[in-house]
Amino acid sequence: MTINAPDYVRRIAPYQAGKPISELAREYALVESRIVKLASNENPLGMPDSAREAMLAAADDLARYPDSNGFELKAALARRYEVPAEWITLGNGSNDILELAAHALVQPGQAVVYAQHSFAVYALATQAVGARAIVVPARELGHDPDAMLAAITPDTRLVFFANPNNPTGTFVGAEAVARFIAAVPPDVVVVLDEAYNEYLRPELRFESAKWVRQHPNLIVARTFSKAYGLAGLRIGFGLAQAELTDLVNRVRQPFNVNSLAQAAAVAALGDTAFLRRSYEVNLQGLELLQRAFERMGLPYVPSHGNFVLVKVGAAAAVYEKLLRAGVIVRPVGNYGLPEWLRISVGVPQENEAFLAALEKALA
Ligand SMILES: Cc1ncc(COP(=O)(O)O)c(C=O)c1O
Repeated sequence: MTINAPDYVRRIAPYQAGKPISELAREYALVESRIVKLASNENPLGMPDSAREAMLAAADDLARYPDSNGFELKAALARRYEVPAEWITLGNGSNDILELAAHALVQPGQAVVYAQHSFAVYALATQAVGARAIVVPARELGHDPDAMLAAITPDTRLVFFANPNNPTGTFVGAEAVARFIAAVPPDVVVVLDEAYNEYLRPELRFESAKWVRQHPNLIVARTFSKAYGLAGLRIGFGLAQAELTDLVNRVRQPFNVNSLAQAAAVAALGDTAFLRRSYEVNLQGLELLQRAFERMGLPYVPSHGNFVLVKVGAAAAVYEKLLRAGVIVRPVGNYGLPEWLRISVGVPQENEAFLAALEKALA
């Protein structure tokens, strides 16, 4: 080994993304247009037309750097969430917000708390700054807020809390989350990661942006990648009070969010019709998949996101058979769930194609 890199960097296991359609087509000599990809919790409706138009208009200005401050998008978000624009950090995906929080707040050797079976990027962001992960055992595959509280040590600087959680789809209700945040010591920052918030049923929704007003140590992270259909553009945001937002912004690349993404996000944020369709198509697809799993006698975790975790036993073999049938789903062995697969919800045709392939794979 000639290159001198920190041991904590050498120990990082790179993120395993869902298999791209083009890669499967190359490897198995399949026709791209027939492949069904339900592996990355993307929006099966594609991107909103409103966002496409906004991007076309913004394309004229691509020789210039983007607005480093994201003025228009922050103004739109400030109105939507009723917070000052100074409380908003824009990110290259909400993934960026998670990493910025770790970079701004945690020194090598200090601790970061998150739950077992929670989003893989928490481990990566922790390791990248040489911090120590405190992984709190899950309760019924979901977050256990009391155990997470008890796990906080004097040198803990950050807690990641995914709600709903990926890959399990579990959700902790408003009261329990509010109690949790209030009980976290004020010098420990909580990142409440709500990438799938827009898929929650109306009766479960709560406006966590309001909690930011009460808690100077809270960052709410949201994304345009899921219900807004803009995953390929990479845009998300964090809401936090001014002091915390200022710290996070000190470690941000000046132009971390490109101009097309900013323009598209403004349009998508105002496109309530698209958002409603995303929600409805997802709910119908989720119910279809969950009913099918019941019929097939397969255990699954009732989901609050745009994906569902199902127990198929020899998951690696089933995954492989599905690939051969042109269906890409997500194995979750790297999440400590070797018998499960995570299925992103598709449009009806995709869901049916997956279920048909699954029945064959299990026969
Ligand atoms: C829980 C959770 N948080 C954050 C993200 C990051 O999404 P993005 O960087 O596309 O905003 C994901 C993506 O799958 C996720 O599942």
